[in-house]
Amino acid sequence: MHQYAQQPIPEDSIHHILNVGLRAQSAKNTQPWHFIAIREPYTLEALSNLGTYAGHLNGADLGLAKLTPDPSQCYSIMFDAGQAAAYMQLAAWEMGVGSCLATIYEPEAARELLEFPQDLHLNVAISLDYPADPEILSAPSKAGGRRSFSEIVHFERG
Ligand SMILES: Cc1cc2nc3c(=O)[nH]c(=O)nc-3n(C[C@H](O)[C@H](O)[C@H](O)COP(=O)(O)O)c2cc1C
Repeated sequence: MHQYAQQPIPEDSIHHILNVGLRAQSAKNTQPWHFIAIREPYTLEALSNLGTYAGHLNGADLGLAKLTPDPSQCYSIMFDAGQAAAYMQLAAWEMGVGSCLATIYEPEAARELLEFPQDLHLNVAISLDYPADPEILSAPSKAGGRRSFSEIVHFERG
């Protein structure tokens, strides 16, 4: 359960976060993304109902809908868009703003809600807000929260 402080993020901080997303690298510099910044509580609530684990969008100060071309066309689309998302999350973190991704399982309902064109697709959104407890931003990973170094990292051969 994500607990947000429901404290408004200043406009210039939101612009900074979005600008960092625009600076992300991408395959052949295709920049395969558009971002819809959402602050209307009604829209965030409606979007939160379009994913099984998207409830944290409801009540967040800001939602970012990450639109891409059809990701089944090229593996790099989601790779690139994922990097833009991660950079925005890190930029937010630096300003004390927490975030969480939300997988959207009803893309056509999302299109109707947010009125974006047919050639774009919404698979992942991000909720952002100041956390109710700021300590959470620098808390160590929970036990079992990450697989171990030796399980993941291989030198020279897999
Ligand atoms: C592609 C992707 C989709 C995700 N979808 C959701 C989601 O629908 N709901 C959610 O609460 N978290 C979602 N997450 C967040 C992950 O669950 C989270 O990063 C992971 O559990 C590790 O948590 P931590 O980074 O807080 O340690 C998603 C993450 C990724 C990378």
